[in-house]
Amino acid sequence: MTEYAEVARAVSARGEVVLRRRTTEHAADVLELRVNGVFVMDTHETSTEEALAAGALDLVEDPRDVVVGGLGLGYTVQRLLADPRVERVAVVEVEEALIGWMRDGTVPHGPAVLADRRVQVVAADLVTAVAEATRTYDLVLLDVDNGPGYLVHDTNAEVYDAPFLTEVHALLNPGGVLVVWSADRAPGLEQTLRTVFGGCTEQALDVELQGRATAYYLYSARRA
Ligand SMILES: C[S@@+](CC[C@H](N)C(=O)[O-])C[C@H]1O[C@@H](n2cnc3c(N)ncnc32)[C@H](O)[C@@H]1O
Repeated sequence: MTEYAEVARAVSARGEVVLRRRTTEHAADVLELRVNGVFVMDTHETSTEEALAAGALDLVEDPRDVVVGGLGLGYTVQRLLADPRVERVAVVEVEEALIGWMRDGTVPHGPAVLADRRVQVVAADLVTAVAEATRTYDLVLLDVDNGPGYLVHDTNAEVYDAPFLTEVHALLNPGGVLVVWSADRAPGLEQTLRTVFGGCTEQALDVELQGRATAYYLYSARRA
């Protein structure tokens, strides 16, 4: 039997953000993040959030400056910080309440992640933050939604489209890499990245979600 207990709830301009604790006979005290009633992620299956960072770190020799779109529960950022080559991580997160829950320990591992002096959290929409960026980066990691085929926020559709991805291309240093996380295969995104960057690699990652085997996907593209 699965039991749920609400841990925190907030309402923002984009809707309702809820953190709840899930307990099953297999795993106790799993935190789940839901937005507008849609499952976003949990603290039990975090391998692909970490793989997003680990895979990207393998692709560049000197990943000093990194942008992460979507703080979530911090696993991508935590994995980046484990690499001593990383000097600065700018994390763009649109939900201020979630940033607060990570800072104040409502998410227990949150304070340690955000206390790292290399982390700068920007409370903003990713599209706005990229448009206003004044410097360039070695890696950009995008995990703001479930992917182009299954959006939590319809407004995030533009994150997977050519105009925004062209801005991200310009945000990268030569040789810099963009990696995009997606819950489903996204051939349209792959094609757009090929057009904008001149190439793209798709990687499938096997995961088990509450007893069900499935796969998530990473799309990588390098600025020449
Ligand atoms: C799937 S979670 C990210 C998970 C993260 N990779 C981790 O390791 O925990 C997506 C995050 O992106 C945020 N988000 C959604 N749309 C956004 C946007 N347009 N700009 C910035 N953040 C956004 C959500 O509030 C959520 O925290």
